[in-house]
Amino acid sequence: MSRSYLLAGVAPLGRAPTDVLIRDGVVVALDAAGAAGARAGAEVVDAAGLVLLPGLVDLHTHLREPGREDAETVESGSRAAALGGYTAVCAMANTEPVADTAGVVEQVYRLGRAAGLVDVQPVGAVTAGLGGQRLAELGAMATSAAAVRMFSDDGRCVADPRMMRRALEYVKAFDGVIAQHAEEPGLTLGAQMHEGEVSAVLGLAGWPAVAEEAIIARDVLLAGHVGARLHICHVSTAGSVEILRWARQRGVRVTAEVTPHHLVLTDELARSYDPVFKVNPPLRTAADVTALRAALAEGVIDAVATDHAPHTVEDKECEWAYARPGMLGLETVLSVVLSTGALAGDAGTDWDALAQRMSRTPARIAGLDGHGRDPAVGVPANLTLVDPAATTTVEPGASASRSRNNPYTGRTLPGRIVATFLRGEPTVLDGKATR
Ligand code: DOR
Repeated sequence: MSRSYLLAGVAPLGRAPTDVLIRDGVVVALDAAGAAGARAGAEVVDAAGLVLLPGLVDLHTHLREPGREDAETVESGSRAAALGGYTAVCAMANTEPVADTAGVVEQVYRLGRAAGLVDVQPVGAVTAGLGGQRLAELGAMATSAAAVRMFSDDGRCVADPRMMRRALEYVKAFDGVIAQHAEEPGLTLGAQMHEGEVSAVLGLAGWPAVAEEAIIARDVLLAGHVGARLHICHVSTAGSVEILRWARQRGVRVTAEVTPHHLVLTDELARSYDPVFKVNPPLRTAADVTALRAALAEGVIDAVATDHAPHTVEDKECEWAYARPGMLGLETVLSVVLSTGALAGDAGTDWDALAQRMSRTPARIAGLDGHGRDPAVGVPANLTLVDPAATTTVEPGASASRSRNNPYTGRTLPGRIVATFLRGEPTVLDGKATR
């Protein structure tokens, strides 16, 4: 039998404090009087000073299973996600084997259900083996038990425009979405970091902003032509924001995400040659960071997505040129976003805007019913409790991830996830995973 929980004195979306009662997986009361009437037997959570949000939804997580369970598993990544306030994550397809068949996406889906910490929604590959030559089994993945709606070759770009067009045409039939890793490969051969002043000083091959912008421009034109949904992964440049704004004005069905790291870290960090700062797309300039924050606030960028990319010590702690790109993100994202002040209103954090960018909109983009819904009577209790007054000091040893490539190690960041509820059951309580 499902237990019931009374969140006493909680502020839903930062509004006036009240009591919220959760029972049988749903919110059953959202006011002090109603909650009091039905509270018998409920476990009381003292939530004074805490903000209640719809559970966070990540559009972009690398869980590494199958194939690289030494870096992460569906279970370890799910636990990291729950600790970060997430109730659903979209698991990227660049596993080994690649998630390009109904069999692999169903395997990931089932591992997610078995772990039971967040809803794991597999993303299917666009092309077989991420090879860019032949479409993957998009239809079979869509009709599989995993009901895949989002497809991406993330880690690689769908560079061939004919392949991209076909993929958009294919998914249009069932309102699927193609999530593009925008990187013109002909412009990033051997690239190690953002192309600019710092790469020139360090003598490292550069990854120019135009390699991202050229693909976004091409793909919004293609998506407009086909009339299908396009999503842009990890937008990293000011120029990309301008193209997205233009596309929106023309009515193209395009959405976009930004990572927490592109909202705070810059290419200056490469001067340390510490590979923890190597990521794809690379960290850009301070001007790009400013533009991305503004775009997130404005809504030209729809969502924050972690691009949580765990890597083993062997793959990461080596010379810069040999290190794999990617950084952890799930457990720190909310604090990192709060630290930017990008979603602040007149009276501190704009919790409604935060819920929009980190829960409602990503749930809508990924088609995840039951997630991204504000707490209200009858709504599935997929919820997150945040303590905005607390701080979090990032200690890699404390992470639930199997990997340690955390770029914020040692930093003290604002805010703390206190509890996460998945369909009314706590996956995190008192800041600790319940299992
Ligand atoms: O930095 C990155 N790491 N960017 C990607 O696109 C892929 C990811 C990974 O899989 O490690």
